[in-house]
Amino acid sequence: MVKALEGVKVLDFTHVQSGPTCTQLLAWFGADVIKVERPGVGDATRKQLVDVDGADSLYFTMLNHNKRSITLDTKNPKGKEVLERLVKACDVLVENFAPGALDRMGFTWERIQELNPRMIMASVKGFGPGPFEDSKVYENIAQCAGGSASTTGFLDGPPTVTGAQIGDSGTGLHLALGIMTALFQREKTGRGQKVLAPMQDGVLNLCRVKLRDQQRLERGPLTEYSQYGEDIPFGDAVPRAGNDSGGGQPGRILKCKGWETDPNAYTYFITQAPVWEKICDVINKPEWKEDPEYKTPKARLNKLSHIFNTIEEWTMTKTKFEVMEICNPLDIPVGPILSMKELAEDQALRAAGTIVEVDHPERGKYLTVGCPIKLSDSPVEVRRSPLLGEHTDQILSDVLGYSAAEVEELKNAGATEPAKKMAAE
Ligand SMILES: CC(C)(COP(=O)(O)OP(=O)(O)OC[C@H]1O[C@@H](n2cnc3c(N)ncnc32)[C@H](O)[C@@H]1OP(=O)(O)O)[C@@H](O)C(=O)NCCC(=O)NCCS
Repeated sequence: MVKALEGVKVLDFTHVQSGPTCTQLLAWFGADVIKVERPGVGDATRKQLVDVDGADSLYFTMLNHNKRSITLDTKNPKGKEVLERLVKACDVLVENFAPGALDRMGFTWERIQELNPRMIMASVKGFGPGPFEDSKVYENIAQCAGGSASTTGFLDGPPTVTGAQIGDSGTGLHLALGIMTALFQREKTGRGQKVLAPMQDGVLNLCRVKLRDQQRLERGPLTEYSQYGEDIPFGDAVPRAGNDSGGGQPGRILKCKGWETDPNAYTYFITQAPVWEKICDVINKPEWKEDPEYKTPKARLNKLSHIFNTIEEWTMTKTKFEVMEICNPLDIPVGPILSMKELAEDQALRAAGTIVEVDHPERGKYLTVGCPIKLSDSPVEVRRSPLLGEHTDQILSDVLGYSAAEVEELKNAGATEPAKKMAAE
């Protein structure tokens, strides 16, 4: 079956997490993703958080499926020639180097356009134009600079980062959308273009509702935040709201049966207004249905802690899955707190191809997260990540047309393999 992006060639200059997330998606959708790595070194994550001696780490393998790897020293004159040919042969160049690194290599946007006017050059950077544009940025810095940390955590605690990699993987997703949009536009114009996804902007985009609340705050207190009911005054910036729901309907994380020993025996519970009466029945408080102190969402706002404590008395008598089984048919929005262990074992996620077992020659079998976006006409088969330089010779000959003798010459010149030490050394 023809894949959605079959025929699209991606020059993948990405490393660590943000860029690789993007190019992995393109590869899953059928693009030929050619990952360029430094000879003898490769993507730094190959050797970060190593759990099996001598094998590529899970950090690397889980972000680089379905790609081919070519080793190329792009600062070596012969290596530069190969890179020029790759730029001419590919449709998209994706990179997440530190600001200016590509220019220092001699591959400015102007030069890339000269080589290939159809090229789409897509970059992740920490910040867009402005005072911080030259900074190197990692995940948690982006979470802090994009408004996530200041709005995550509890009111009486410090700013907190989230486990979801919204800075890196989130920006990779934004970049993938930018690339697809540019490819679509190129169909009409014939021209490539630059695509920039700054991590700060990506995180802020995901924190959109908090900028909404910032503006609401200027008109009065945020009544759905727990602190309103607790009579804690608001300051001039959106506060951390603990586990309050961001959607205007009060919600909390509540203990379930077994919470004393299981750190994940909890459920999320939303007291959504249209199902309030059903909630009252489930928790055995039918009198709250008609009591003016509880009947309307507004009346409930100043006693949310009491209400949730009462609901929790009920949830503590049930497992998180029993809460789900009881509430789901009644349209009461609840959700179990699932541990990574539970997710790894989840049969529905496995059947959907979202949790996938992959075999790897160095490390054996491991689990990964497969493609979370499902296309009915472009199914995804998750293939293992490439070993360092596994496809160097293949790419040089198949994609760029080098002869076997030329491939050998490039090796000897130190363009595709680490330069050989002098015999006298
Ligand atoms: C992630 C980041 C902080 C890492 O910084 P770093 O480890 O110093 O890596 P850099 O991107 O600066 O690259 C280091 C050097 O390797 C060089 N290099 C990379 N691949 C090469 C290759 N195949 N051949 C020769 N040189 C290569 C680069 O040209 C650069 O050289 P320079 O400093 O002389 O210009 C930085 O790349 C960054 O800020 N990226 C953008 C934001 C981002 O994506 N952050 C999240 C990462 S998950």
